[in-house]
Amino acid sequence: SVSGKGLSPDIGFKAVPASTADTITVPEGYRWDTLISWGDPLFSGIENFKDGGLNSAAAQEKQFGDNNDGMSFFPLSDDRAILAINNEYTNYEYLFAHQGKQMTAEDVRKAQAAHGVSVFEIEKKNGSWQLVKDSRYNRRIHANTPMMITGPAAGHDLMKTEDDPSGTLALGTFNNCANGETPWGTYLTCEENFNGYFGSSSDVDLGADGKRYGVKSTDSGYQWHKFDERFDIAKHPQENHRFGWVVEIDPKNPNSTPKKRTALGRFKHENAALTINEGGHVVVYLGDDQRGEHLYKFVSRNRYNPDNQDANRDLLEEGTLYVARFSSASGKASGRGEWIELTHGKNGLTAANGFKDQAEVLVFARRAATQVGATTMDRPEWVAVHPSGKQVFCTLTNNKNRGKEGQPVGGPNPRAKNNYGQIIRWQPDNGDHTSMDFSWDLFVMAGNPDVHNDAYAGSSNINKDNMFNSPDGLGFDPEGRMWIQTDGKYSNKGDFEGMGNNQMLCADPASGEIRRFLTGPVACEITGLTFSSDYTTMFIGVQHPGEDLKPSHFPGGGNSTPRSSVIMIRKEDGGVIGS
Ligand code: FEO
Ligand code: CA
Ligand code: CA
Ligand code: CA
Repeated sequence: SVSGKGLSPDIGFKAVPASTADTITVPEGYRWDTLISWGDPLFSGIENFKDGGLNSAAAQEKQFGDNNDGMSFFPLSDDRAILAINNEYTNYEYLFAHQGKQMTAEDVRKAQAAHGVSVFEIEKKNGSWQLVKDSRYNRRIHANTPMMITGPAAGHDLMKTEDDPSGTLALGTFNNCANGETPWGTYLTCEENFNGYFGSSSDVDLGADGKRYGVKSTDSGYQWHKFDERFDIAKHPQENHRFGWVVEIDPKNPNSTPKKRTALGRFKHENAALTINEGGHVVVYLGDDQRGEHLYKFVSRNRYNPDNQDANRDLLEEGTLYVARFSSASGKASGRGEWIELTHGKNGLTAANGFKDQAEVLVFARRAATQVGATTMDRPEWVAVHPSGKQVFCTLTNNKNRGKEGQPVGGPNPRAKNNYGQIIRWQPDNGDHTSMDFSWDLFVMAGNPDVHNDAYAGSSNINKDNMFNSPDGLGFDPEGRMWIQTDGKYSNKGDFEGMGNNQMLCADPASGEIRRFLTGPVACEITGLTFSSDYTTMFIGVQHPGEDLKPSHFPGGGNSTPRSSVIMIRKEDGGVIGS
C-alpha cells in the first residue's frame, strides 16, 4: 500500500466556514481581487463588456473568453508574466439577450469566440498583478483558430474531412477544461466534452464509436450545426474525430500554430499532469471525465533535454499510451495496479478485434481501453503529481452510475451511487513513473457526517467543518500543500446540507488533514489554479457564477450580469499562500 509518511507542509491559516453568500470568502489575513472577467477586452479599441449579452462576435474574439477553467503562469521577469487560461464553454442565458432562443450565424460565431484559450501578459504594479492591454503576447485562440494535427493519427483516413483532405489541419479548440504545462515553456489545453457541439437536423447514427463518445444528432443546445455546417454530423461525420485531444500552445510565440497531440489519445480530457521521470522520459497522467471511463498515462519515446529547450518541442508527438487497471484485496480501499499498453498489435488491439492500426487505437482510445480490461472509474478529473515526484493524486469527482451494469462497486470506486467523490493516490513502483506497476489507496472519501453514519459520511479526515462534495481541480505548491477545488452540488440541502457553495480546501498529504480555504459565490464552481513564481499570489478561477439563472451578480454586484472571473489571492503580510 501507499505510505502517507513524509514531511507535512506548514498550513498556517484558520479555516473558513461553509458559505452560501454571493461572494468569495478567504481566511483572516488574506485578501482577494479580481484580475479579469469574461468579456474584458485584451486590446484597446475593443468594446468593453456589456451586461445583458449585448457584445458582438467581433468583440468577443478580442475579449477574455467565458467560463475560465485551467490556467498556467509563465514568468517573463519578476514583475511580468504571461497567463494562458482555458475558456471551457459559455452560458447562453448570459451570452445572448435572447438567451439562445433566436440563434443566428453571428451568434454562433460569438459563442465560438467565447471558447478556447485566452493568452495575455500581466504585470505587477504596487504589489498587484494586472492585465497589460495590447501586449504582443495577447492572443485569443478559439473555435476557429487553425491548428496542426500531429502524432500517429495525423493524416489518417479517420481524420480527413471534405474541407481538410490532408487530415492534418483542424479548425479550433473548444470545451477546454483543465490544463498542463511543460518544462519547455508550453501550455497544454485539454478538450473535454467536445461531443456536445455536434448535431444534425437529420437522424444520423455514427455507430458504436459515436455512441461511446456521445456524438449524436441532438447536441447539448449550442446549435452550431444549424449555422456552421462543419458541426453537422450528417454532412461531416468525421469532423468530431479532430476534437477530444490535448493541444500544445507556445504562449511566448503569438504567431505559433497550436498542435493537437494525438499520441495522448482521444477522450474527454480533463487535465494533463506532466512529470519528467528520472531517466528523462516525459510522463503525462490524463483523466477521462465521464462516468465509468478511465485513467491514462503517456510516456514519451524521447528524453527531455534540460540544456536545449528547442530540442524538447515535439516530445509529446511520439510515445506510448497506457490505461490503468486496479486490483484490491476484497473490501480494502487500497491495493495494487498496473498500466496496460495501448499499442496496436499488443493486448488484443488487433485487426481481428476491430483495430486497423495505431491511429484507430488513439482516435477510439476508449474502445481500446475497454478491449484491454481497464478499470471503470468514478469520473477521473484532475491529476496532480506531488512535488517530491513520488506520489500522484487524482480526483474522482462522483458517479451516480456506480453499481450499475459494467461499473462494479469496489477498489478505488467503493461506493454505489457515489454522489460525494474521492481522491485516489498512487505510488509507482521504485518511484519510477515509467514502471508498469503501482500501489494505491484513497486519500479521502468525501461525505457528509451530519447526514450519514455509514461510508457516505466520508473517510476519517472528513468532519462537519471541512465537508465538501465533488472534488475536481487539484494541484500542489512546491512545499507540498495540496489544493482541492470543488465542482459539486451547492443546494446546501439533503445530502449536501451544511456544505454551502463550491469551495477550495488545502490538504496535508502526509497527515491527511483537510482545511477549508475559500468559498465561492452562488452557483459557481472553483476551478483553475496557478501561482506567481514567488507563491505570494494565487490565481484561481470562479466559473459559471449564477448558471441557469441562479441569483448571482458576481463579481460586479448590484444587478449586473454574473461573469466567470480569475481571482487573485494574497496574504496581507505578503507571505506565501497557505503558510
Ligand atoms: Fe470540465 Fe471534468 O470538468
Ligand atoms: Ca473539471
Ligand atoms: Ca467537474
Ligand atoms: Ca466546469
